[in-house]
Amino acid sequence: MTKILVTGSLGQIGSELVPTLRKKYGNENVIATDIRPNAPTFICEEGPYEILDVLNNSRFEELIKEYEIDTVFHLAGLLSATGERFPQKAWDLNINSLLSVLEFGRKYQFKRIFWPSSIAAFGPTTPKDNTPNETILQPNTMYGVTKVTGELLLEYYWQKFGLDTRCMRLPGIISSETPCGGGTTDYAVEIFYEAIEHNHYTCFVKPETKLPMMYMPDLLKSITMLMDADVAKLEHHVFNITAMSFTAEELVQEIQKHRPNFTVEYKPDFRQTIADSWPRSIDDSSARKEWGWKHDFGLTEMTKDMLEKLINSKKIFDQN
Ligand code: SER
Repeated sequence: MTKILVTGSLGQIGSELVPTLRKKYGNENVIATDIRPNAPTFICEEGPYEILDVLNNSRFEELIKEYEIDTVFHLAGLLSATGERFPQKAWDLNINSLLSVLEFGRKYQFKRIFWPSSIAAFGPTTPKDNTPNETILQPNTMYGVTKVTGELLLEYYWQKFGLDTRCMRLPGIISSETPCGGGTTDYAVEIFYEAIEHNHYTCFVKPETKLPMMYMPDLLKSITMLMDADVAKLEHHVFNITAMSFTAEELVQEIQKHRPNFTVEYKPDFRQTIADSWPRSIDDSSARKEWGWKHDFGLTEMTKDMLEKLINSKKIFDQN
């Protein structure tokens, strides 16, 4: 019986991954944790919810013992834009907590650990188009530095102690359940909320900015596939993964097909420099070969579904 602990459960990814894992493994077997006390009912009533600051080692270890955890999805972390404002905090949170998880994994003989890396592991010297799995990793953001370091730690614990660590370099994730915060790819999510609520968006990257992206249903599918993959077939522990790449302008045009009155102005800020340091498109052929990765949503399908989901959720007021 698998017993899973998820950190950062109330974040953009956690809030959708927890229900997915609970459906697959049973509500009681997935312990959602986050630093915030006010978890929404669908997280804290369907299964266990515990308050956890991932830098509090003794509390973390208590929970692992109490629930006999054997698998951790370690999602708590600071994203790229916030990381540039608070570099030391980004290092502490992203790396010190990962090191604790890896040490717990060794001590309690975890079956598996999932940790998300990011396209932020790449930098200005990395090839920008169809970026390979094995390539130059010289990021120029603190977030990127933590992602490269984390990848090396996962590899080290795998090689040295045989700990089964699995990791994907996530592109920008677009989703409708929980708004994101603190990232550079956030514009591709915010734009949908603003299109519905105000028919207008002020975009913080230039129209020609092109980045790799993925829609949440594909992300949930990919995490499940990677965690289920036969270890004997894995040549990597860190995988490039993607579903689509588009410019900010292409996204605007796609939204305008559904909402012709939608307007955008561009006011690039410090996040433009971060976006410019990342690849435009990703080669994820290793994921496709080693564990059968295949995406379902491109720009057209994602845009249609996002707008429908947000409007139907009634969480925001539709101006149309
Ligand atoms: N979406 C993240 C960010 O923009 C990248 O991993 O920071």
